[in-house]
Amino acid sequence: MRQTYKNIILIGFMGVGKGSVARVLARKMGVFAIDGDDLIESFANKKIKKIFEEDGEAEFRKIEKNLAKFLEKSVNGVVISTGGGFYKVKNLNKIGTVIYLKSNFDKIIERIKAAPNADKKLAKRPLLSDLNRAKALHKERDEAYAKKADLIINVEDKTPQQVAAKIVKLLNRKHLKG
Ligand code: S3P
Repeated sequence: MRQTYKNIILIGFMGVGKGSVARVLARKMGVFAIDGDDLIESFANKKIKKIFEEDGEAEFRKIEKNLAKFLEKSVNGVVISTGGGFYKVKNLNKIGTVIYLKSNFDKIIERIKAAPNADKKLAKRPLLSDLNRAKALHKERDEAYAKKADLIINVEDKTPQQVAAKIVKLLNRKHLKG
């Protein structure tokens, strides 16, 4: 991780591959990858699905905001993958350089369905339980993700390795804020 980057944060819709790309990218850069939803699960001591069911989405969003404060204040030099709604936190751009992994909705669903653990991937995401609503959410968020991003990478039909290589190339070319 060069000194110019506080952290790299990956944002984008559910199932777009933020976690996989974060791990490959972190390895390439020789730093740790951390996942926002994993931190939320360890904080709440339950799975995201259970937080939605037992405490409601509003409580989940509250924890996301607290996580964002923690990341801004205490975390440096890592690649962070985030849940699909994390982009809304007010201090997102203070946490680090924001990269939007962009894909159209149908390709995302195709990608999830092709995964060996497709059922699990769908079941753990409460907001994917109704695909029509998820499609509308994707449409609504696409522009919002782009607005928050320092870099936008189209990930359609690309492997995490290809996406990570592209990110490294673009970051090297562009001097982004730290
Ligand atoms: C959400 C995305 C999920 C998870 C939660 C809410 C969203 O993460 O944070 O279910 O609002 O898009 P992934 O993007 O990793 O699926």
